[in-house]
Amino acid sequence: MKKSLNIGTVGCGRIAGKHLAALTSDHVKANLVAVCDLIEEKAKEKGEQYNVPYYLSAHDMIKAHPEIDVIDVLTPTGYHAENVVEFAQFGRHIICEKPMALRVEDCDRMIEACQHNNCRLFIVKQNRFNRAILAARRALEQGRFGKLVLGTVRVRWRRDQGYYDQANWRGTWKLDGGVVAQQATHHLDLLQWFMGPIDFIQSQIATRLMDIEVEDTAAAIMRFKNGALGVFEATTATRPNDLEGSLSILGEKGSVIIGGPAVNMIEHWKFEVEEPEDAAMGELHSHEVENVYGHGHMPYLASVIDAILEDKPAAVGGDEGRKNVEILTALYESAASGKPVHPGAPVVHARIGERE
Ligand SMILES: NC(=O)c1ccc[n+]([C@@H]2O[C@H](COP(=O)([O-])OP(=O)(O)OC[C@H]3O[C@@H](n4cnc5c(N)ncnc54)[C@H](O)[C@@H]3O)[C@@H](O)[C@H]2O)c1
Repeated sequence: MKKSLNIGTVGCGRIAGKHLAALTSDHVKANLVAVCDLIEEKAKEKGEQYNVPYYLSAHDMIKAHPEIDVIDVLTPTGYHAENVVEFAQFGRHIICEKPMALRVEDCDRMIEACQHNNCRLFIVKQNRFNRAILAARRALEQGRFGKLVLGTVRVRWRRDQGYYDQANWRGTWKLDGGVVAQQATHHLDLLQWFMGPIDFIQSQIATRLMDIEVEDTAAAIMRFKNGALGVFEATTATRPNDLEGSLSILGEKGSVIIGGPAVNMIEHWKFEVEEPEDAAMGELHSHEVENVYGHGHMPYLASVIDAILEDKPAAVGGDEGRKNVEILTALYESAASGKPVHPGAPVVHARIGERE
């Protein structure tokens, strides 16, 4: 069995630093072989920083490095589908940043292309790997919450106009979406991971402070198939600073609140039936973060490499990425139509992922 995998990354933008730091660390069984970006200065900067060759296209990178086992796709969201479908033809496994795509049909094309070319597809959802989240998830699997009652997520982050103006794709319906698809996609994923499938979602979106075509603020309520309710709130128009990225799970036998800026701190952990370690959970499973991206990329990427090396199921594969796109597009469809929407129902009114 191989001991490590060779990785080539596509896209040297804002999130690339997190991936490159993780892929070159001792915690991930990976060898960073090369990087590429359409913009030479970005590719060169990362290539020089990590001491690997850089290329201006994925094709050139793969041609020069047939030893690459995994392609890590870090391109703008609206290009994920065409990139993954194209790169699947190289027959290498693929990691793709979140959200998987902006249309459910695109997720299907990505999944099919990977199946057809016999490569595995992994979607980045690093928050599932936060220590606090993993601890709460274990409690859920042990049945400690009992019957679920209410799940709430809040994303109160600050992004200013400069963030949206730094690239043409940002803040557009065609290639990005607003706070729902770009930032709160993680929190919607966590909500369904804990509470189960959503039956319907009803939402409103607004653009309050930014000069962008998409929303900077959104609110929604939802009913889960198990009968529990959900509350969602997200904005990038929080001022003056990031305030929180949080998840609350309330059940008949206990409640947990995970807060901090990046769902990183256990703020409340209380169950009717106590266990010895409960009192120390906050201390043991919270961690500080320097920004809202958190520290999840390292364990997430380690899990991907281990899943390939050991032929284990993906923690977050194309199926889970697709579920998340069903939810976020349902949220946009409800806001556009003014009606409750079932995830997976056709998107008719919403502009998310629009084609020209
Ligand atoms: N997991 C997280 O917390 C997190 C955080 C931020 C961004 N993201 C996601 O990562 C993706 C990228 O976001 P970003 O902020 O890094 O964007 P960015 O604009 O900073 O970087 C994207 C880079 O991809 C390059 N690129 C585009 N098409 C390419 C191609 N075909 N070949 C090679 N390079 C190409 C661009 O030139 C650009 O440098 C988005 O989907 C975003 O949602 C995830």
